Amino acid sequence: MTHVIDGNAVAQRIRDELRDSIETLEAEGTTPTLATVLMSDDPASETYVSMKQDDCEEVGIEAIDVEIDPDAPAEELFETVDDLNADDDVDGILVQMPVPDHVDKRAVLRAIDPMKDVDGFHPENVGRLVAGDARYKPCTPHGIQKLLEAADVDTEGKDAVVVGRSDIVGKPMANLFIQKAPGGNATTTVCHSRTEDLAAKTRAADIVVAAAGVPEMIDGSMLSEGAVVIDVGINRVDADTEKGYELVGDVDFESAKEKASAITPVPGGVGPMTRAMLLYNTVKAAGSRAD
Ligand code: GUN
Repeated sequence: MTHVIDGNAVAQRIRDELRDSIETLEAEGTTPTLATVLMSDDPASETYVSMKQDDCEEVGIEAIDVEIDPDAPAEELFETVDDLNADDDVDGILVQMPVPDHVDKRAVLRAIDPMKDVDGFHPENVGRLVAGDARYKPCTPHGIQKLLEAADVDTEGKDAVVVGRSDIVGKPMANLFIQKAPGGNATTTVCHSRTEDLAAKTRAADIVVAAAGVPEMIDGSMLSEGAVVIDVGINRVDADTEKGYELVGDVDFESAKEKASAITPVPGGVGPMTRAMLLYNTVKAAGSRAD
């Protein structure tokens, strides 16, 4: 039987554990606080940010919600980040990506105080991750490590294939997989849009992480019997539903499930874990403030 990995259940367990740490911090006079900054009117981004705010409320993290008109000058975003950097009550800052084209994304990531960079996207934090000395592990790959651990999947010595080379998922996932650490020690291949014969690579994998943002691009014929399949995709495709769309992953779930020993669903797999690990990083940031 294929194990369908329940991301909601694992995320709930992590939130329950965090609640204890948050109560301890509160008792010491520190209220963990996360500021989210949204400069976009993309409905998906709006939904993600509001879910992150709700998660904070559920576990007792204070959430500050800053919204900036997507047509406003870039300076407005930089001034907001400066103010949040200077605010001693703010532990974590998350600027929801993507930002509008007239805003230099890399400059935004550099502007965030690395101690408050709970996404782990500041170059200093990326460097620390690559060096095997992560301050904040990026939320999605960290969440995937936790999911694999919860599903009793040992990565050590396994062949892992990461499909997608984004800064947010693919690159940090590959970095975590190759580290000499629990959840690492995997022989790791990163595939992308220029990979020749992707199916040959994925068929040779014990663990496939699909993070290319292409609906249902990985199907059962591309997997070996018993593979572990982690689907990071959240693609909105037109559908005859109330909302006019449905969410599908980067994996064709039905055919992949026939081959996989374990697989994550969409929704309810990686997504809740990304959000849980954001809370984890925020509590970690608050812990360093309390030190
Ligand atoms: N956009 C999509 N995923 C993420 C994420 O994990 N963090 C931020 N800041 N923006 C995103």
